[in-house]
Amino acid sequence: MESSRQDIVDFIVKETPLEPAEAADIIETPPDSSRGDLALPCFKLAKALRNKPVVIAEDLAAAFQPTELVESALATGPYLNFRLARTPFLKAALEDPAAPTHDGDGRTIVLDYGSPNISKHLAYHHLRTLSIGFSLKRIFDQLGYRTVGINHLGDWGTTHGKLLAAWKMWGEGIDLTEDGVTKLNELYVRFNQEGAKEDGQDWFRRLEQGDAEARALWEQFREISLAEFDEVFSMLGVTFDVMKGESHYADLAEDAIRRVEATGLDEISEGAQVVMLTDLDMPPFFLRKADGATVYGTRDLAAVFDRYELYEFDRCIYVVDMGQSLYFKQLFAVLERMGLPYAGRVEHVSFGIVRFGGKKTGSRTGNVVLLREVVTEAIERIRAIIEDKNPDLADKEGVARAVGVGALLFSDLSAKRVKDVEFVWEDVLTFEGHTGPYLQYTHARCASILRKAGEDVGDDADLSLLTLPEEWELAKVLARFTDRVRIAARDAEPSVISQYLLLLAETFSRYYNLGNENPELKVLAPDPAARAARLALVGGVRDVLARGLFLLGMKAPEEM
Ligand code: ARG
Repeated sequence: MESSRQDIVDFIVKETPLEPAEAADIIETPPDSSRGDLALPCFKLAKALRNKPVVIAEDLAAAFQPTELVESALATGPYLNFRLARTPFLKAALEDPAAPTHDGDGRTIVLDYGSPNISKHLAYHHLRTLSIGFSLKRIFDQLGYRTVGINHLGDWGTTHGKLLAAWKMWGEGIDLTEDGVTKLNELYVRFNQEGAKEDGQDWFRRLEQGDAEARALWEQFREISLAEFDEVFSMLGVTFDVMKGESHYADLAEDAIRRVEATGLDEISEGAQVVMLTDLDMPPFFLRKADGATVYGTRDLAAVFDRYELYEFDRCIYVVDMGQSLYFKQLFAVLERMGLPYAGRVEHVSFGIVRFGGKKTGSRTGNVVLLREVVTEAIERIRAIIEDKNPDLADKEGVARAVGVGALLFSDLSAKRVKDVEFVWEDVLTFEGHTGPYLQYTHARCASILRKAGEDVGDDADLSLLTLPEEWELAKVLARFTDRVRIAARDAEPSVISQYLLLLAETFSRYYNLGNENPELKVLAPDPAARAARLALVGGVRDVLARGLFLLGMKAPEEM
C-alpha cells in the first residue's frame, strides 16, 4: 500500500499546490470499493485551485498517467478514484505483512502501568491499566522503539504508616503466610474506622527516618504483596522491565523539592509547601504536607526527573484511571513551569471505569472483585467449553489459559479506552461476536488450513490468480496493519488494533465462506496454482492475526 500510495501522492503534488504531507493526509479509502481503491476528494482543493470540485476531478483524471503501481484514475463527481495495479500490490501486501518497523529509530518510550498499592489485592479494575499499558509497550516495540515498562509500586506514604500502627495495635501474632494481603487489608480498613490519625503519621515518620522495626515490618508487608502481584501478573502474562516503587523515591523526594525551590515556584500555604496553580484554575500541587511528610506527587516529580535522566524519553506515558486526571494536569503544569524541556513529552493515558455485574469495582467502594478470581473463573469456564466441544484437543490446559486470559484482555481493550467497560461473562467468553476467543479461533482456523496444506505452502505462488473481489478486499485489509499500529501508538489507543483485527477476521470469514457454496472457491482448491496463491493469502492473515493478538498481550494457539 505504501508505495502505491506514494505514486498517488507524487501525482497530487505535481498537479496541485499541496505539499507531500498534505497530499498524503487528504487521500481516502472509498467506502464502496467498487469505485476504486483510493480516492482524492477534490472539494478540499476547490479553494486552492479556484475551481469547482467536479471540474478539478475531471482535469486531474485527464492529466493522470498510469504507473506500475497505479492503474487508473477516474473522476466520479467531486472524487478522483484511483485503481491500484493488483499483482504488485498483492506481492507487497503478502510479503511479511506483520513485520516490525524502524519508526522508533533509537527513541525511548517510558510506560508506567499497573503500579498497584501494596497491602491491598489486585482488583478486577486493575486489569485496565495492566492490559492497556502492556499492550502499548508491545505496540511501540513493534514500531522499533526502545520501551521501558515501569511498575511504579505504591509502597510509600502515610497509608503505610497507618498500616504499621494498625499492626502494632491488633496485628502482632497474625500469621501472614496464608492470605496475608487480605489480613493486611483488614487491618488497614479497621484502622480507618477506629485508629488515630496521629499514630499513623507517627509510624510513617519512623519509617521515613529508617527506624529498624518500622522498616522490617514494612518490608515484610511489601514482600507478601509482591508475591501475590507476581502470581497474578504471570497468570495474565504481563511483564515489566523495571520495578521502582514510590519508596525508591522517598529520599530523592527531598532533592526534587530542592529543584522546585531553585526555580522559586514553591510557596508555604497553611503550613504546607506547595506550587500554586490558581491561574490555571487548579488546586495547589503539594510538595510537602504541613506535618513535613512528602506526598505521592513529590515522589512522582522525583520519578520523572529520574526517568528522563536515565532514558531521555521521547514520551513518558502514565496509564492511570481517569480519577487522577486533575492530579496529572497539576503534575505536568509544574514540569512546564519549571521550564523542563521534556514537559511536553509526558502524557496521562486515562481510561474509564469497569463495572462488574452493574457495579463499580474498587477497594474504596467496598465491592472488591479480585482479579485473580476472575482470571481463574475465565479459565475454568473456557476449559468447560473445550471439554464440551473439542475434548480431544491436544493441549487443553494451555488453550484454556490462553483463551480465558485472552478473552478478558480483549474485552478490556476492544472499546476506546476512555469508555467505561461493562463486564458480562457471556459477552466476554463467547466464540461468536466481537470477542477475543473469536479472533483466536479465526487464527487457529487459518493455522489449521495451512497445516493441512503441508508442503503446498510455498513462496513462489502466482498472486495474479487472486482475482476474486473478496481476495482483493482481504489483501487491502492486510496491507493496512502497519498503518493501524502507527495510529494506535500515536493515540496510545490499543482499541485501534482490536477493531482492526475484528475487521480482518470478518473479511477473512466472508472470503472463506465462499468455499462452502462453491468448491472451486475453497482455499484448498483442486487447482494447485490457485491453491498456492490462496494459501499465501491465508498465511498473511494468520501472521497478522498472530501478531495483532500479540500486540494486545494475547496468545494465539495453533489449534482450538
Ligand atoms: N499507585 C497508584 C494508584 O494505585 C497509581 C500510580 C500511577 N503511577 C504514577 N506514576 N503516579 O492509584
